[in-house]
Amino acid sequence: MKRPILIHPDPRLKKVCPPVDDLSDDLRQLSDDMLETMYDAPGIGLAAPQVGVLSRLIVLDCVKEEGAAPHPVVMFNPEVVAASDETNVYEEGCLSIPEEYAEVTRPAEVQVRWIDQDGHPQQAGFDGLWATCIQHEIDHLNGKLFIDYLGPMKRQMITRRMQKLKRGKARA
Ligand code: NI
Repeated sequence: MKRPILIHPDPRLKKVCPPVDDLSDDLRQLSDDMLETMYDAPGIGLAAPQVGVLSRLIVLDCVKEEGAAPHPVVMFNPEVVAASDETNVYEEGCLSIPEEYAEVTRPAEVQVRWIDQDGHPQQAGFDGLWATCIQHEIDHLNGKLFIDYLGPMKRQMITRRMQKLKRGKARA
């Protein structure tokens, strides 16, 4: 089932989410719903607080090639355990900040540890778009948005546009 995506500014997008300590059926269902919501948007990543659930859960699929098989990944309690000194710059966007994009610099490679949908611990290295996306989504779990990496002027400008967008939606 698709879930509505919160649009910035929203206090739930600014919260530090507590870890998941028991993988309930509800949480598994939530992760499936989040994948469905992400693919439908369409987007390449989504974090639980973006659908109003304050739990450490992210979903992603950064396979972008036309016609390539989907590669959905569900991560409970994701954690960057090592990051490269080398950085990458990507033009980032966010489903909670529609139609706004800005360049963000992040470590180019990260080692990530997480719990998968079956409750098993996993660890793997990621680079390229996957590395950027995972870091962006983990930021969400700490109440941080990509616009927090921008200067205050640019951030305020984007926030004002989002407030306007939300007012328009509320009237519609
Ligand atoms: Ni985002």
